[in-house]
Amino acid sequence: MGQRKKILITWGLGYIGSHTATVFIEAGYDVIIVDNLSNSHESSLEAIKKITWKTPKFYELDLRNYWDLDTVFEKHAKDIALVIHFAAKKAVWESCQDPFLYYDHNIFWTMNLLKVMNKHWVNQIIFSSSATVYDAENLLPPFSETDKTKTTNPYWTTKLVIENLLRDMVMHKWFSAIALRYFNPIWAHSSHLLWENPKWVPTNLLPFLLKVAKWEIEKLSIFWNDYDTEDGTCIRDYIHVMDVADAHFSAAKYLFDRIEINETSEAYKADPTFEICNIWTWYWKSVLEMVDIVKTVTDKEIPYEIVERRAGDVAVSLANPIKAKQLLDRESKRTVVQWVEDARLYINK
Ligand code: UD1
Repeated sequence: MGQRKKILITWGLGYIGSHTATVFIEAGYDVIIVDNLSNSHESSLEAIKKITWKTPKFYELDLRNYWDLDTVFEKHAKDIALVIHFAAKKAVWESCQDPFLYYDHNIFWTMNLLKVMNKHWVNQIIFSSSATVYDAENLLPPFSETDKTKTTNPYWTTKLVIENLLRDMVMHKWFSAIALRYFNPIWAHSSHLLWENPKWVPTNLLPFLLKVAKWEIEKLSIFWNDYDTEDGTCIRDYIHVMDVADAHFSAAKYLFDRIEINETSEAYKADPTFEICNIWTWYWKSVLEMVDIVKTVTDKEIPYEIVERRAGDVAVSLANPIKAKQLLDRESKRTVVQWVEDARLYINK
């Protein structure tokens, strides 16, 4: 990857961001974290330090503030090889209540980031997209990257808009981007110093289930049991968060292999490339199966009730992993055994 050794991570103190930061630091990169702490905790910085024995540079700033961001790039751009962009609001229901909020954050944040990157000649980005952009109701799983996409809410729309924005940047600027479409990251770093720790009541299944197991929440509401699946509850692809973090590293290696450094000028160019990759595992499970897993490993009752469908849910959401294997040479490594161990450690914290 040449001389540049810095990786800038937006929302690098969040759930996936902080786990990804440890992977890059342990591989010898200097990590710069930009986070506004709106859904993360500064204590994650301490945890990253304990895990890696290194202190990432941390800037508390909101990506909507162009000039703050510009100051960070003024300082570091010469050494930044890559930006990994996680910052995004992600609750479907909230995006329906307030579409403007989602455009104002997800799109505006990304626009500012790309503008600053462009100004300072930082031209490689990995974008955290989502597997929810597939037209799941009309496709046969597993979905491939070339399959039709569809959006039914502002949150998903922002993901697709950003993917298209990146595609256009690559087409018309000297720029490279990979959008990783992943499914449901779960569990935690093996040290258990980092884990999913949202500031608000979680809306995703796993953090919610774990809070029920810890008796912090009374019961789980299962969003309907009459879907066209074996036990009637929805099936999802759950992936260990460290496998998602590793996937970012594989994507970075792919981009770094395309870098060409012009020693005589400041130019630091990469072959323009735009790729979308599903990040996937073989361990799909239904909601009831996840309840059983958590029940078994924690040895705790998981009270639940069946309630109405949640808007936007589809019966089955699974993706085809072939492209990531071929292009990025990556596969998910953590097995259900690792999941079980992680859940047990988390519950006994
Ligand atoms: C959800 C979002 C998706 C977002 C992703 C990551 C929707 C429709 N989809 O995906 O846009 O990118 O999270 O943040 O909101 N479940 C329950 N009870 C709960 C929580 C979840 O039964 O309290 C069920 C859901 O119906 C679903 C499964 O558990 O079948 C997984 O839900 P979740 O963890 O929210 O992930 P996704 O629905 O895949």
